[in-house]
Amino acid sequence: MTEEKKTPILRIRSLTKQYDNSQRVILPRIDLDVYPEDFLCILGPSGCGKSTLIRCIAGFEDYEGTIESNGRIVKKPGTDRIMVFQDFNQLFPWKTVVNNITYALKASGMADKKARIAKAEKYLKKVNLFDYKDYYPHQLSGGMKQRVAIARGMALGSSIILMDEPFAALDAMTRNRMQSELLHIKEKESMTVVFITHNIQEAISLGNRIMVMSRNGEVKEHLYNTLEKPVTPATPGYGALWKHLNDLLTEERADDK
Ligand SMILES: Nc1ncnc2c1ncn2[C@@H]1O[C@H](COP(=O)(O)OP(=O)(O)O)[C@@H](O)[C@H]1O
Ligand SMILES: [Mg+2]
Repeated sequence: MTEEKKTPILRIRSLTKQYDNSQRVILPRIDLDVYPEDFLCILGPSGCGKSTLIRCIAGFEDYEGTIESNGRIVKKPGTDRIMVFQDFNQLFPWKTVVNNITYALKASGMADKKARIAKAEKYLKKVNLFDYKDYYPHQLSGGMKQRVAIARGMALGSSIILMDEPFAALDAMTRNRMQSELLHIKEKESMTVVFITHNIQEAISLGNRIMVMSRNGEVKEHLYNTLEKPVTPATPGYGALWKHLNDLLTEERADDK
């Protein structure tokens, strides 16, 4: 599928997930490689197992099969992967922006206070929030809080951002802005992103790869999105790609009966 053979940053083989209290196999032997600097968008009908998949990658769930992140088997959450949540309450509300990051650095074993502050400030600059370093989370917008969480993850050494429908609750204008901020950070910092959405437009605007899951948790189709960024509905090829993805999702809904 790719011209050159790179080493995947995430390597998933025969991933199978069944919750203890249920007969249903949610993810039936998923195989997936994610390469450095990929922006992989995952689309699929509600309940198909998208959140389950990303929670397994994040290390929040046990599973059968193998998930390797940066060559190491995923058994629990790790500093190589950041999960950025949709609800924006992922920061300590009683700590300032900069202290949210220095606290995480201290917990990860960084002993020197000055070095912790310098590092936190460096990553706040990268997400364009240096001027807000002494603010408290409640003084920031939702998108700014997500960026603090990303800066904290990057400061800890993460190169993979995991996002589960992060912008789903936002109005269209805010969502557009947050999409371009995310793309900007991703490009500038060479991050790898796995991003779940139920929004076809969002998948096309953001992803260089789009994976569609079927209702029973299988990978239905996996494609490369070669439309040039920034993508708009006027971009040549947009309509055909949108229709193709919409048809795939409609098939899954039609099968539901
Ligand atoms: N903790 C859990 N225990 C049992 N079943 C679960 C749990 N979490 C999710 N499920 C079930 O797994 C299936 C997939 O859920 P989920 O991964 O949240 O789907 P999606 O994110 O695609 O909407 C659903 O049928 C859901 O009810
Ligand atoms: Mg979900």
